[in-house]
Amino acid sequence: MDQQQTLARIRELTEALTEHNHRYYILDNPTISDAGYDAQLRELQDLETEYPELMQTDSPTQRVGSLPLSGFDQLTHSIPMLSLSNAMDEEELVSFDARVRKDLEIERLDYVVEPKLDGLGVELIYVDGVFTAGSTRGDGFTGENITQNLRTLKTLPLRLRGDSRTIPPYLEVRGEVFMAHQDFEQLNQRQLDQEKQPFANPRNAAAGSLRQLDSRITASRNLLINLYAAGSIDSFAPESQMEFIQALRDWGFPVNDLYELCPNIESVIHFHKNLESNRENLEYDIDGTVTKVNRLDYQNRMGIRSRSPRWAIAGKFKARQEITKILSIVPSVGRTGAITPVANLEPVHLGGVIVARATLHNQDEIDRKEVREGDTVVVQRAGDVIPEVVKALLEKRPAGSQPYIIPDRCPACDGHVIRLDGEAKHYCQNISCTAQIKGRIEHFVAKRCMDIDGFGTKLVGQLVDTGFITSIADIYSLNLDQLANLERMAEKSALNIIEAINSSKSADLWRLIHGLGIRNVGEHISKVIANKYGSLLAMGEASVDDLEATHEVGPIVARGLVEFFRDSDNQKILAKLSGHGLNPTIDVSARSEGIFSGLSFVFTGKLEHFNRDSARVLVESLGGASANTISKKTDYLVAGPGAGSKMEKANKLGVKILTEDEFRSMVGAQ
Ligand code: IVH
Repeated sequence: MDQQQTLARIRELTEALTEHNHRYYILDNPTISDAGYDAQLRELQDLETEYPELMQTDSPTQRVGSLPLSGFDQLTHSIPMLSLSNAMDEEELVSFDARVRKDLEIERLDYVVEPKLDGLGVELIYVDGVFTAGSTRGDGFTGENITQNLRTLKTLPLRLRGDSRTIPPYLEVRGEVFMAHQDFEQLNQRQLDQEKQPFANPRNAAAGSLRQLDSRITASRNLLINLYAAGSIDSFAPESQMEFIQALRDWGFPVNDLYELCPNIESVIHFHKNLESNRENLEYDIDGTVTKVNRLDYQNRMGIRSRSPRWAIAGKFKARQEITKILSIVPSVGRTGAITPVANLEPVHLGGVIVARATLHNQDEIDRKEVREGDTVVVQRAGDVIPEVVKALLEKRPAGSQPYIIPDRCPACDGHVIRLDGEAKHYCQNISCTAQIKGRIEHFVAKRCMDIDGFGTKLVGQLVDTGFITSIADIYSLNLDQLANLERMAEKSALNIIEAINSSKSADLWRLIHGLGIRNVGEHISKVIANKYGSLLAMGEASVDDLEATHEVGPIVARGLVEFFRDSDNQKILAKLSGHGLNPTIDVSARSEGIFSGLSFVFTGKLEHFNRDSARVLVESLGGASANTISKKTDYLVAGPGAGSKMEKANKLGVKILTEDEFRSMVGAQ
């Protein structure tokens, strides 16, 4: 074969295998034997090995994964990936419907109800029909570039079906990556066989599998994906969610079958209840339904709240309950010294996962629920939350059982445990309590803080027990010898950990703030104060009043922050961290980062609270851009009364339209 013929054959095989994949995975109707498929795949692999330059971008051989990355790049979503507000029961679905009809000033409308898949939201980008990039939802504005990993999902089309008339030149679609129960059980068995930690539930397993730097691991995990929403799309304007779902199918995307068009809220509720009673029969977890206004022009008219669309709602299922027995109750110490009583249970199946532990929260909860060791109890698991004990079945209580009282000595360090007035929790008073030290370090290195790869619970335990580290600052004094000499630590792993520690020195400011573990300062507040103050130094000098003047920062958080920075032990740790080169800063005068980073706004019509200039200054101060004309790049049109042609253009291009009030609530104005 000459080069020309080889290229033709490579193209032919790529196309044929793509078609077979679609028939097998999406249509469930294969027309080739497994052996026949494998033979073609092997032929293609061989040709690609010999002529790597001829490999097609959508080659099915890419699904096996490729060389590990050193980290994920960030990808900003061109339209933020929102979350959904919840309806906890039927009544809240009814009031959602009332709100929708009132906003739209109409009597009747269609809804589409879909299952709420319990996995991870992702975005896929196709350019001219070829899968080009994919990302996690992240914080809704920016996610991680996980293109390599997504490529390995067997049902994800690498090239769309259709031609240039039916495939938009630029297409962003959104969906959920999840794992079936059976694959989850098998994966956990493999984890146990290899003495690795099993995953708590299929959702965590899917998340862990998708965020692998080595895509060959992702490829081995059998992840599923279903698409259900649009991002920004060029030259394609369906009229309804139903039409959009059909387009997804036509392009070859896997779409969940269990959706329905409902003419009113009663039939939405009917569908919701049906699905709820059938959920045990599904091969994967769902945690509710999602109800969407079907017509897209209605959706655009309704717009969004700060973080969620007004035209959709998640109907939550009731928590699943089971009956089991409390084998023992043990106090566990967290990083703040708080003691949480935990019930060890006779393992029980609860909605697809096995539950063996449940939190009892604190002494008051134990007293209120009257639970004791040996009791038969009702346990429940609601979505993501930690399983909890609902109540004890008193008639089944064994004779001679005693009420449980949290011990007055810390189970980790034997320090004094006391409960202060007004506090629900008991606290260990010993500041050098090893459980607290371990907890603080585990928090500091965690994914959502400094994200130091390879620094797990076990390693933290070893390092604290050997006395190599006693505070978060000591992490940066660790050397290769110390790590490599730990039990069961390979030289290569030690090297990787040192590298991860070093690269964490350039982590963003908010990660460091979050990692410090200041009470009540979570990820979101960390980002807010990082953006306002720009450095730890500036934060440390802020007064309670100044902190409180920050949007979203209340008096408790403000006081907690000031106390944290005033504490001399904390000051020493901060000084050490700074000495190790951890001095992240943000140029707050430029305000290049903010809640509107990467977003573009246009204003039209008469606005009550702003003129064009003040609106522009505000958007820019939050990291966004503002323009005078609508284009494909526009994310939001803020329209006041008297808006004209811009409104039409925005509708045509699918640009989100906000009222002035909605815009004001996005920026946090009261
Ligand atoms: S629509 C703009 N449809 O739920 C509306 N989301 O709590 C948001 N999810 O981040 C997307 N199943 O990851 C939509 N059928 C479905 C869904 C679904 C699961 C997830 C999604 C989203 C989260 C919101």
